[in-house]
Amino acid sequence: MAASKLRIGVLGAGRWANMAHIPGWKRDPRVEVVALCDVEKALAQEMAQRFGIPEHTDDWQGLIARPDIDVIDIVTPSNTHQELAAAAVEAGKHVLSEKPVAHDFRETLRLDAEAKRKGLKTKLGFTFRHTPGVRYAKSLIDQGFVGRPFIFNGYEQNSQWLDPQTPLRRSQMREDQSMVQVVSLEGYGAPIIDIGRWWVGAGYSSVVGTMRNFIPERRVWGSDRLTPMNIDDGDVFVAEFGNGVIGSIQTSFVTIGNFPGVEARIFGDKGAIICRMVEEFGIAETIKLATPDSVEFKEVEIPRKFYPREGNPKESWRSLFYANLIEDFIDDILDGGDRNQGNFADGAAVQEVINAVELSIRQRRWVDLPLAGGA
Ligand SMILES: NC(=O)c1ccc[n+]([C@@H]2O[C@H](COP(=O)([O-])OP(=O)(O)OC[C@H]3O[C@@H](n4cnc5c(N)ncnc54)[C@H](O)[C@@H]3O)[C@@H](O)[C@H]2O)c1
Repeated sequence: MAASKLRIGVLGAGRWANMAHIPGWKRDPRVEVVALCDVEKALAQEMAQRFGIPEHTDDWQGLIARPDIDVIDIVTPSNTHQELAAAAVEAGKHVLSEKPVAHDFRETLRLDAEAKRKGLKTKLGFTFRHTPGVRYAKSLIDQGFVGRPFIFNGYEQNSQWLDPQTPLRRSQMREDQSMVQVVSLEGYGAPIIDIGRWWVGAGYSSVVGTMRNFIPERRVWGSDRLTPMNIDDGDVFVAEFGNGVIGSIQTSFVTIGNFPGVEARIFGDKGAIICRMVEEFGIAETIKLATPDSVEFKEVEIPRKFYPREGNPKESWRSLFYANLIEDFIDDILDGGDRNQGNFADGAAVQEVINAVELSIRQRRWVDLPLAGGA
């Protein structure tokens, strides 16, 4: 049956490929990772050996051009995603890309349209849309547990970078130090902004936000010196959704708590859900429910069917959540129909919110969506 397996080419052999992407592909018998590429060839070789991937290379153009590869998986630094995703769509490949595809949402929309025109499936690395708890919550919402939704609150925050000696990625540095730059809002905000529109069942219609730099100098990978880093260590925005729901989102690099630090809350007239995707005391996530006649939030067990193959609540959140994402993408591709949630169009919608919040902060005002050029 080997010939019928989907053939995967992975770009990037760094930390996230090692902890989440490649383990996700490897646990699904419907695919085969045939080649791994990293511009640092030694890294590609070492990881290919570790995971039993038959081929490795430092030539990403060559890998994308291979006619025997069906899917390109992009797990490289954020400033490379757009170029690699565009090349992969151009070459007729299904694409999984880490977020953001592009800093300007219009570029992601353009790639989404091009992929759809070619009958290709796309997926964003929205890890937290795919957690067992978030999926269970979405199924409860769809069954009417929350009733008419009123308010959504989202958080993605942790204290990984409270200590300026903890290095940030070089791609998170910004040349312009004259004003606070959007880094946490984009890197951390994206997954929870995505869950907000998914759970609420409508897009964001208006936003107003604020952000602040709390730690002015930091280390970056590969350097021992502290460097000026005028980035948003914390931000908060308030939102209105198209269906009348209101909400708030908070993201931060310096708020105390364990990573990944993502929490989503939804309150309606029939019920409320709190899903906490924070690895605590060896458990990857918890979900709590309350109703008008039972107002104390009770933790409930997430049904087995929301877990990936051989997944369990004590597994690392990284491989657990990502295995669900990858299994879902394989289902999308093999299904052949319209099934394709969490795709580049969803990525563009999230990036549009990030762009709108940034505009609102720069101009200190509410900003309505869609922005010019939006869907
Ligand atoms: N979705 C999530 O929850 C989540 C979590 C962690 C990281 N990420 C994202 O994953 C991506 C990778 O992060 P990481 O921590 O693995 O970074 P990393 O720096 O450890 O690894 C990236 C690798 O990509 C390689 N690379 C750069 N350009 C390349 C190219 N053109 N072709 C092939 N390889 C190339 C680099 O040499 C490096 O080895 C980033 O975009 C990051 O934001 C997402």
